[in-house]
Formats: sequence, structure tokens, C-alpha cells
Amino acid sequence: MDVELRILRFNPETDEASHWESYRIAAEPTDPVLNLLHHVKWYVDGTLTFRRSCAHGVCGSDAMLINGRNRLACEYLVQDAGSRISVEPIRGVPVVKDLLVDMEPFWDKYRSVMPFLVNDEIPEDGRERRQSPEERERFDDTTKCILCAACTTGCPVFWTNRDYVGPAAIVNAHRFIFDSRDTASEERLEIMADADGVWRCRTVFNCVEACPKGINITRAILEVTREIEHRHVG
Ligand code: SF4
Ligand code: F3S
Ligand code: FES
Repeated sequence: MDVELRILRFNPETDEASHWESYRIAAEPTDPVLNLLHHVKWYVDGTLTFRRSCAHGVCGSDAMLINGRNRLACEYLVQDAGSRISVEPIRGVPVVKDLLVDMEPFWDKYRSVMPFLVNDEIPEDGRERRQSPEERERFDDTTKCILCAACTTGCPVFWTNRDYVGPAAIVNAHRFIFDSRDTASEERLEIMADADGVWRCRTVFNCVEACPKGINITRAILEVTREIEHRHVG
């Protein structure tokens, strides 16, 4: 296929504002859009800057807006994107260069929910912490998060209020709040019940549409809010 690839470029050393640049590339329909970016970087303009690592939908580092929608460049195929493809950085976080954004505001929210298992007690048999399949199932969906940031950076509430903890942090709080082995769910629920926690969500649903892993984010948000009410936290 003959593809016109448009990339929103920005070089902080030379540009005052972002601008579109176009490239004509011969591609296979089954090529992921990431291959086109590699082509530009390796054969046309080595200054093109973007993140990627695994190239297989696992690391979450290449979330970007492709034809205006949140996608992983390594998973989204040319045959689905069409012969005119536009690529922009994800929104709501500062652009460092081209498609590379400053993820620190996102990581700050993620760290704030204690995204790790807390349990200082020694198991009775001194070995592993056991969990039934049903207990594991309780938070299965939210374990799928690859921290690509598409949901939070696609949320209009986050665009207007950078203090909002955002859907990705809520998803990762959910993953531990409902883990039967964890002992810090009360603390996490208090963080979630804060003024900039779950109550800020306006059920816009952009996050669900943005998630490349199909996580039911709004259900996770609802379950966390119910748990706050149920346990009378906050
Ligand atoms: Fe990405 Fe989905 Fe995790 Fe949000 S919940 S960071 S969209 S994988
Ligand atoms: Fe934002 Fe998703 Fe809620 S887009 S407003 S976190 S439903
Ligand atoms: Fe890792 Fe795309 S490069 S998810």
C-alpha cells in the first residue's frame, strides 16, 4: 500500500509550535503503524522522536493518537488505519519532542495510590500467601493494565484538572483494594475518597474507549466508589 503518513512534529530547540509533516511510505497492510514510524526514523529523518520498547502490546510505551484515537502504534495495523494516517502525541501531558511526552504527571498519580502489595504478616505456614480462584478473579480485569496512559490522558476531567488522580491510577488502586492478600485497602480507599479522587469522574467514558487492553475502567471506578460508601471511608 502507498501510505501518506502525517506526524505532528515539535522540536523544542527550533519550533515555537507543533506542525504537521507528511511522508509517503510503501507499507504492507499487515504492518503496524510503528513500522512506519521506524521507517521515517531510520531512512528519512533520524531526529523523529517517539517511545517504544516491546513492539508487542505489552510495555505500554507507544500509546499515541492515530487518526485521532488512542492506539498502541505497535498493535494498530495499516489495513485498519487506511492509506492516510495521522499520528499525534497523547493529550493532556506536556510534549517533550515530537511524539514523546512528559509522563511524570501520570507517574505521580500512579505512585500516589500505593500500586504494590502491602502485607507485613507472615503466612501461617510460613510459605506463600494463598488465594482462591474466586478471590483472584475479583481483580483480574485490572491486572491487565500496561500503564500506557491512554485513559488518563484521554479524560477531559484530567485535561481541566491536573490534580484529578485519573482512571489509570484508579484502575491500579482497584487492583490492590480487591486483592484478598493486601492489608492497605483502607488507606487506598482514603486516597480514592479524596476531593481529587474517584468523585471527580463524570462518567465521560473516553477512558474505556481509549484502553488498548479492553479493561472495563468505569466498572472499576464504580466498584471503588461503592467500596468507599460500603466501608464509610472518607
Ligand atoms: Fe492504558 Fe488501559 Fe491501563 Fe489506562 S487502564 S493505562 S488505557 S492499559
Ligand atoms: Fe474520565 Fe473515564 Fe471518568 S474519561 S470522567 S475517568 S469515565
Ligand atoms: Fe510496547 Fe507498543 S511498544 S506496547
